[in-house]
Amino acid sequence: MTHAYARFTPLSGKVVSCSTMAIAIVHRKPSVAEFESVVASVGFRGHDYAAVEIALANTLFCVCAIEEQQVVGIGRVVGDGAISFLLTGVMVRPSHQRRGIGTLIVQALCNAVEGLRYKNMMMEVVPQPGSRSFYERFGFTASRSEPLGMVRWFNEA
Ligand SMILES: CC(C)(COP(=O)(O)OP(=O)(O)OC[C@H]1O[C@@H](n2cnc3c(N)ncnc32)[C@H](O)[C@@H]1OP(=O)(O)O)[C@@H](O)C(=O)NCCC(=O)NCCS
Repeated sequence: MTHAYARFTPLSGKVVSCSTMAIAIVHRKPSVAEFESVVASVGFRGHDYAAVEIALANTLFCVCAIEEQQVVGIGRVVGDGAISFLLTGVMVRPSHQRRGIGTLIVQALCNAVEGLRYKNMMMEVVPQPGSRSFYERFGFTASRSEPLGMVRWFNEA
């Protein structure tokens, strides 16, 4: 399925692309409240306010999808800024999913990393169950058959 896009005025930051639904894809960080609102909307675990502040401050690239001044999607890249990167927290509110927004977020973040122009940069992603095919669209491949990735949680709540 393809999605049609048109111009739209940014709220802030750099507009990457936008849609006929008046959704802007903007290079900017969300507020803590915006971030946690999108986290909750997709059913992910919540975080401490201070933790989100630190996480956003240490984020290399961040993109927000904005509709009528509301953040409806977010994606982040963290890493060392030259060799190793992690694509994380790609989230689109359920009310706005399957409209191409997640694709625009990931494309914008991949473009930002690619634009650094160092050779042999690697970006990893740990796909949620069922979302592997979503990331394969952008050229992510499983680095090995098992395990695809490993995660440890700390201070679970
Ligand atoms: C994964 C997610 C970000 C995708 O956002 P989205 O805006 O719905 O994605 P798009 O509309 O750009 O989807 C593009 C294509 O990817 C595929 N796709 C979308 N979500 C998918 C999913 N969860 N699993 C597998 N494929 C998916 C679809 O085939 C879609 O193509 P279509 O429009 O032809 O149907 C969104 O479903 C989401 O926020 N999920 C909850 C949070 C999450 O799991 N994030 C991933 C963290 S690793």
